Amino acid sequence: PTTRHYDFVITEGQGWPDGVVRDMLFINGKFPGPLIEANMGDRLVVNVTNKLSANATAVHWHGMYQNGTNWFDGTTGITQCGIPPGQSLVYNFTLDQSGTYWYHSHYGTQYLDGILGPLIIHAPEEADARQLYDQERVVLIQDWYHDFSTVNLETYLAPDNENTEPIPDNGLVNGMAFFNCSAYDSDYGYTCFDNNTCSVLSLEPNTRTRLRFINTGAFAEFELSVDNHTLSVIEADATLVKPVSVHRVPIHVAQRYSVILETNQSTSTNYWLRGAMVTNCFTGNNPVLDPTTKAVISYSGNKTAVPSDASVDWADALPEHCIDLDARDLIPSTQKVPPGATKMWRLDFSFGIGAYQLDRAKFNGTSWSVLDNTTTLQQAIDGLGGGTQEGAAASGGSNSWAVEGPVGAFGGDQFVLGVSTDNQIDVVDILLYSLDEGSHPFHLHGHEFWILQTGSGPFNWTHYHEEIYPAGAPGIADALRRDTFTLQPYKWTLFRFVADNAGLWAFHCHIAWHLEAGLMMQFMSRPDVLGEATVPEAVRGLCAASTGR
Ligand code: C2O
Repeated sequence: PTTRHYDFVITEGQGWPDGVVRDMLFINGKFPGPLIEANMGDRLVVNVTNKLSANATAVHWHGMYQNGTNWFDGTTGITQCGIPPGQSLVYNFTLDQSGTYWYHSHYGTQYLDGILGPLIIHAPEEADARQLYDQERVVLIQDWYHDFSTVNLETYLAPDNENTEPIPDNGLVNGMAFFNCSAYDSDYGYTCFDNNTCSVLSLEPNTRTRLRFINTGAFAEFELSVDNHTLSVIEADATLVKPVSVHRVPIHVAQRYSVILETNQSTSTNYWLRGAMVTNCFTGNNPVLDPTTKAVISYSGNKTAVPSDASVDWADALPEHCIDLDARDLIPSTQKVPPGATKMWRLDFSFGIGAYQLDRAKFNGTSWSVLDNTTTLQQAIDGLGGGTQEGAAASGGSNSWAVEGPVGAFGGDQFVLGVSTDNQIDVVDILLYSLDEGSHPFHLHGHEFWILQTGSGPFNWTHYHEEIYPAGAPGIADALRRDTFTLQPYKWTLFRFVADNAGLWAFHCHIAWHLEAGLMMQFMSRPDVLGEATVPEAVRGLCAASTGR
């Protein structure tokens, strides 16, 4: 194992990824941020320096377990206070896993303005999959707004705007896209240069490439495809799966898929790689948006050759909803589901509705908001000093831990569920119910979960006890492991994780607007270990210095 050092300097400035000039944030002057590539077992040391004029920042390493280093999870208000302007924080943790990941700011909606990038970890565990391709490329796909994120957020959270998320202005592939300025009236106020370039992936004919798709966006799900080429899916959120052939790959915010692309078509043209936004998931429309963003797969190495008419899109219709590839079709080659849950909860979420109500999201009746100048992690450790979880509860409020329902143990409106609280490691089943008309990509920090079942209507508890609860139940043996799944409107998903990782772990909808509307809760895992833990001074000090969040 090696230690890999990176310096991230966060700055603000103007950028024009698609030709429309706007205020942006950069890592080392660039957008997207640098590719971090490492081997499993390596240590990653990233010195993040905040050179913003007014705002704090924090960087989250999406999908990293952070086992033993919960304080480097980078989640504002939960594991750290923001790094104030002029200060730095050195994130330092080991990479105990492999696959396709990414990193992004976890301070408000800041990542939408540019603080994001890919994180790829290789491992001997991938040796078999490695036989399937000759080279690899990272493909970041995301929606893009022409206004700074806080402008859109303010509109979204204003009273009477329920469920009208800001609709993207464009999509980007690897931080680039076409845009035609005539879409805007001249008096609209943007400085715009017609952009006639896009990302080009140059590949030799008759080779096989692993494309690592990562949706680094705010809101939109994309259907990714390459004209004239089938794609073979081999990875979903860092879980290797038996290859499945598809025309399009639906990818929701924060999800990753690896596919194998074989350059086995005619060399007389280049081909479009298309990312089609599933606009059925939007409320309303945006006249400047071309919902299909494009990049070029170039056989010839000719970086400008626009594909000819021989490059043909697949005819398959786009889905009615934002939905995942069916988990039942994706069979993990390793990483099998652990048998037998020891704890089980049902959780519901919904959005505040009704006249004059703020557009707040509710998790079992609570709506997350960031704590001032402290973190739930610090509160938990302080309270657990006495060695009891009641201590954690007492540190911030009057309620004790409850199995179902809000725990008022922390300041603000923090819904925290305790897991592995009895000096044993729980296998936790969560039945997540949607009481909402939208689709939501849910992500759990510090863990991967297995998707056991999904359905609609009342959950069949008899079925659960007979078929899910006993060890090794048939039908779930091939459950897919991943870290972000899409929950359908008014449906439920039953998922399982092993609570072996001490810390405070965010569980939230990854749609940036929904997260800021409060669609987040936390798991507190292993209070026995947490009670003995000390947050490093460099992280603790941020709260004293914090200028708010
Ligand atoms: Cu990409 Cu809270 O995470």
